[in-house]
Amino acid sequence: MKLLVTGGAGFIGSAYVRNHLANNPGDRVVVLDKLTYAGNLTNLAPADHSRLQFVEGDIADPAAVAAAIETCDGIINFAAESHVDRSIENPGEFIKTDVFGTFVLLEAARDAGLRYLQISTDEVYGSIEQGSFTETSPLDPSSPYSASKAGGDLLVSAFHHTYGVEALIVRASNNYGPYQFPEKLIPLCILNALAGDRIPVYGDGLQVRNWLYVDDFAAAIDVVFRAGEPGQVYNVGGPDECANIEVVRRILEGCGRDAGLIDYVSDRLGHDVRYSLSAARTESLGWSAEVRFDEGIERTVAWYRDNEAWWGPTRSGEYREYYERQYGRTLG
Ligand code: NAD
Ligand code: TYD
Repeated sequence: MKLLVTGGAGFIGSAYVRNHLANNPGDRVVVLDKLTYAGNLTNLAPADHSRLQFVEGDIADPAAVAAAIETCDGIINFAAESHVDRSIENPGEFIKTDVFGTFVLLEAARDAGLRYLQISTDEVYGSIEQGSFTETSPLDPSSPYSASKAGGDLLVSAFHHTYGVEALIVRASNNYGPYQFPEKLIPLCILNALAGDRIPVYGDGLQVRNWLYVDDFAAAIDVVFRAGEPGQVYNVGGPDECANIEVVRRILEGCGRDAGLIDYVSDRLGHDVRYSLSAARTESLGWSAEVRFDEGIERTVAWYRDNEAWWGPTRSGEYREYYERQYGRTLG
């Protein structure tokens, strides 16, 4: 099989490509990626390049998609603007990529008669005080990011319903692990802790996220792509929930730093208090999470400690400018 993987130079897409090529020796992958600030070809360096083709291009550009898709047997769409804080600052790019880009890919899947998997997020369901969202929970997104992801998801369902496109959706909870861009809570916290920089905690830090190790999500994607039913949604919730402040405390401990680095800052606008997903439907296909948070966070801290060659360049340039705008202070 030859898969088109869009957004394959990002955090989760590259983990998927590395794992998929390693576990499926007969398969080939074409990565189509625009290489935004979040795309990094180094993320794909450990993959088997004899079966990997990289194409730089935009999923919102029908010609780029048509060229990349030739000879592919299926599409997995990871490409997105993915950070809530950036969506609050500049929502337009999110609509272009996450909504219009998804539409362009769906048109291509429809023309070529290809199976299509949309990578989506628990954030489309909004915040939940108690219990967990299931696939039948109503969509109630709160940020421009989650609204644009929900828009993409609705198009996927419509293309299945109207044109019979063999399309499915997976919605995951917060991923963490190696190669995650440091704008997100866990890598930001690890790198600031290693550098001795203060760690910005939004509001009271009591918001809860449901954490999923990225390799577990990569495995779930393969299971759903192979065995999932077209037109269906599959939620992939992580095995553990944790309040942000507890995540920060564990990272500080893992990096040998004390709580003095914690800096409570103004809350995120429209901040969702809690995300929680039931993974029962995905588990019924034979998947289960293997990495619990205690182990995953240890592995992740160790990876960042050992891979300054990766994050050194990442933690400068565009990210440094973003950080200064977002947090009103410089990185150490
Ligand atoms: P990321 O920001 O690390 O990577 C996104 C990738 O998409 C980058 O390589 C970027 O260059 C590429 N890209 C952006 N716009 C593009 C465009 N117009 N055309 C082609 N490529 C483009 O994101 P991630 O964390 O790896 O997330 C991947 C997917 O998983 C996204 O769809 C996101 O919504 C979803 N998701 C993420 C999480 C999470 O915790 N990170 C959880 C659930 C779902
Ligand atoms: P993030 O990693 O941006 O993921 P998401 O918003 O998609 O869940 O944030 C995770 C949680 O951590 C969220 O509740 C916001 C919070 N947070 C902070 O407290 N400080 C930070 O500097 C960042 C980036 C996030």
